[in-house]
Amino acid sequence: MRTTVGIVGGGPAGLLLARLLHESGIDSVVLESRDRAYVERRQRAGILEDGTVRALRACGAGERMDREGLVHDGIELRFGRRSHRIDFPSLTGGRRVMVYAQTEVVKDLIALRLREGGPLLFEAEVRAVTGADGDRPVVHFVHEGRRQTLTCDYVVGCDGFHGVTRGAVPDGVLRTYTRDYPYSWLGILADVPPSCDELIYAHSPRGFALHSMRSPSVSRLYLQVPNGTEPDEWPDERIWDELDARFAIDGDWKLARGPITSKAVLPMRSFVAEPMRYGRVLLAGDAAHIVPPTGAKGLNLAASDVIVLARAFAHLRETGSAELLAAYSDTCLRRVWRAEHFSYFMTTTLHTDPGQSEFDTRLQLSQLDRIATSTAAATDLAENYTGLPIP
Ligand code: FAD
Ligand code: DHB
Repeated sequence: MRTTVGIVGGGPAGLLLARLLHESGIDSVVLESRDRAYVERRQRAGILEDGTVRALRACGAGERMDREGLVHDGIELRFGRRSHRIDFPSLTGGRRVMVYAQTEVVKDLIALRLREGGPLLFEAEVRAVTGADGDRPVVHFVHEGRRQTLTCDYVVGCDGFHGVTRGAVPDGVLRTYTRDYPYSWLGILADVPPSCDELIYAHSPRGFALHSMRSPSVSRLYLQVPNGTEPDEWPDERIWDELDARFAIDGDWKLARGPITSKAVLPMRSFVAEPMRYGRVLLAGDAAHIVPPTGAKGLNLAASDVIVLARAFAHLRETGSAELLAAYSDTCLRRVWRAEHFSYFMTTTLHTDPGQSEFDTRLQLSQLDRIATSTAAATDLAENYTGLPIP
């Protein structure tokens, strides 16, 4: 097989890249190791930044999102038993976010690709990418029990944190930066209308909690739990009692309970691999960087990487110049590091570190109070949360 751009991984980064390339008349092949049902069911992120929403709309993948997604103008911060709202449009010159699950984005992009795009192979497991520093990199994969190769002009690794494409960058060239956190999230889906109009990020003496949603009838909630926690340690009643305690404020508010339909523990890590390009192999999304989920940045960073990359490929096709492709890594990394810092900031400000002193807690509360009372501090949060401009 032969193509212009070989895309390893059919998650949001790979699927959106394939769609954007298709729009520019550039052919690509997407190789995804899992089956379609698995990829479409994987519960992950839920918040789309303004720039991600615009990009999905512009490439024809926004129709159902605009019908079913929930536009949010702000978030609520809870700490010290009080509630404070951050209003995005007034602080950012009109930017908002969209609550629309990653699973739905993925379903929409897969449907479009199968209807009017090029090849998307499921259960095609990539084993290696070779020839990064030559003219024709090759993707080696196994599909339907047969070993095959895909020869490309360029290969883009959109294969997530555990993917193989990053391995094509030689050890002496690749630099990695990692930070692990001493806590995880227990995430649940529940068949109950959300108890809030906007997301609630709660700091409490018992640890962090987040109230999100998937639709007017489905709630998505997260609890900080110790690393190594098994979902079975948390029967439903215990989850609701703990959420109640962490969201508690002085005043009227009640958390509605309902049947829990999914329960999973998610570890947290910050990670960046530099550079995001080596020869004719490029990395995008979680293959190059991951963030702890507290700032809702992972999916959005994956989208902004491939928006920059698709533009660089279109420029190459139109002008013959590889200048934007050469600049891809530097262009993305500046925004990546900003999102890394924001995600780290949101995580460490809102969670309780097991080794945390009373002094550390007072610093967190002081920082949250500053955000609640200073327009400058609230603006900084709102600009980062709704998404900085895509370069
Ligand atoms: P992925 O979505 O990981 O997609 C990579 C794809 O590559 C996968 O489909 C995988 O099957 C495929 N693949 C891997 N290896 C190979 C191979 N060898 N050959 C072929 N295909 C391969 N972000 C948030 O903002 N909020 C959240 O609540 C949140 N929750 C998360 C929960 C979990 C468990 C995880 C892992 C991530 C979560 N994230 C969250 C982060 C967000 O989901 C990711 O940033 C986003 O999925 C990145 O998209 P991607 O396309 O780069 O990578
Ligand atoms: C969701 C996940 C996040 O990490 C976040 O910060 C906000 C919402 C969600 O899954 O809905």
